[in-house]
Amino acid sequence: MAGLTISCESSRPEDTRSLGRQLGIVAQPGDVFLLVGELGAGKTVFTQGLGEGMGIREPINSPTFVLLREYQGRLTLYHYDLYRLANVESTVTREWEEFLYGQGVSAVEWANRASELLPADCLLLEFLIESDTRRVLKLTASGERHVALLSSLHCS
Ligand SMILES: Nc1ncnc2c1ncn2[C@@H]1O[C@H](COP(=O)(O)OP(=O)(O)OP(=O)(O)O)[C@@H](O)[C@H]1O
Ligand SMILES: [Mg+2]
Repeated sequence: MAGLTISCESSRPEDTRSLGRQLGIVAQPGDVFLLVGELGAGKTVFTQGLGEGMGIREPINSPTFVLLREYQGRLTLYHYDLYRLANVESTVTREWEEFLYGQGVSAVEWANRASELLPADCLLLEFLIESDTRRVLKLTASGERHVALLSSLHCS
């Protein structure tokens, strides 16, 4: 399957948010964003931008112990945070899979905690912390649709 990788630099939270916003504006049903990176790397900031781009007005955050939250915008956004996922097999329900392969857009924080259950056709975003305010984002697209999405992105 065709793939594409690009790197983007972010020197402040607004850069990361704006990257999310750009993708949120053009996101289509079934798009999957897998977010990987250490605590405080910017996965939620990215998702906030994504939601903004999708026209979601409700504030997006990552409340403790909530693995999945749903937001309504131009499309439905399923925001997963798998940080506290203890036992993948018993926790990941059929509904989750319906969402991931359905007509909404999914953003999955800590996607590496359940990689075997997540779609291979996705946009993987790896966040690297370089300093207090600098991040490098490595974006890898798999599948035609996500490659097209990534090709449309303009970043520094
Ligand atoms: N360039 C940057 N991009 C994103 N966030 C940044 C950047 N520089 C500083 N920050 C700060 O880093 C923090 C990122 O927090 P965020 O909640 O998005 O991280 P996270 O990856 O979701 O962490 P967690 O794994 O705890 O969910 C925020 O406090 C934000 O202000
Ligand atoms: Mg987070």
